[in-house]
Amino acid sequence: MIRKEKLLIVSHREIARDIFELTFQGDLAAEIKRPGQFVHVKVSDAAVPLLRRPVSIARADAAAGTITLIYRRGGEGTALLAARKQGERVDVIGPLGNGFPADDSLKGRKVLLAGGGIGVPPLYGLSLKLKALGAEPVHVLGFDTKSSVFYEKEFEAIGETFVSTVDGSTGTKGFVTDIIDLFRLNFDTLYACGPVQMLKALEMRFPEKEVYLSLEERMGCGIGACFACVCHVPGDPDGYRKVCSDGPVFKAGEVVL
Ligand code: FES
Repeated sequence: MIRKEKLLIVSHREIARDIFELTFQGDLAAEIKRPGQFVHVKVSDAAVPLLRRPVSIARADAAAGTITLIYRRGGEGTALLAARKQGERVDVIGPLGNGFPADDSLKGRKVLLAGGGIGVPPLYGLSLKLKALGAEPVHVLGFDTKSSVFYEKEFEAIGETFVSTVDGSTGTKGFVTDIIDLFRLNFDTLYACGPVQMLKALEMRFPEKEVYLSLEERMGCGIGACFACVCHVPGDPDGYRKVCSDGPVFKAGEVVL
């Protein structure tokens, strides 16, 4: 059930350049059913600007009542959010979106999780879930440069993890697709979240595989009001899907990237 709650900040820290990890405590944690869902965060208590931002959930722990978000400090809204301190309460609406499908049928299966930049966070909660289901997750994480890498150790604790950077300052130089080729990674199911170019490349490369893509980067308002997130449906000139409310996760081929 979607709820609105003033969640308590229990920790908030910069984990890479302009990348923040924010952990809340509250009842909303128990409502999060699938990795890949997101929340809508009111970044400031000031009347103006009345800003909310969609932020992906990296991990939810219903027993502990905690929700961990990871976001990039980019524009005005996320800069205000980055200034919020431990002990403050933040108005949050969620969970929103459909999330990644994952069930018992994945037991014993090889699953590849490919993330690019700020598309990496939702794959963390997904990987924890896949591991708990008995699947074998392998992670391929792409970043711009060494200072923007985060959660490498956290992913390594779950399964094999490869890191690429565009400038080669750490890990393999190149993109996640280069790593998949270089290490000849094989898998039954692929889950990916990141820039549209990365998702397009993965969709084209593995037409015969089961592939799920999270189009988070396409999100604007996050609540179905701005139409910034609309994607067309292949073969249907009038058909469209909204990333925020129909997604953000789609099966490969379901929408035009
Ligand atoms: Fe605004 Fe989807 S992000 S309508």
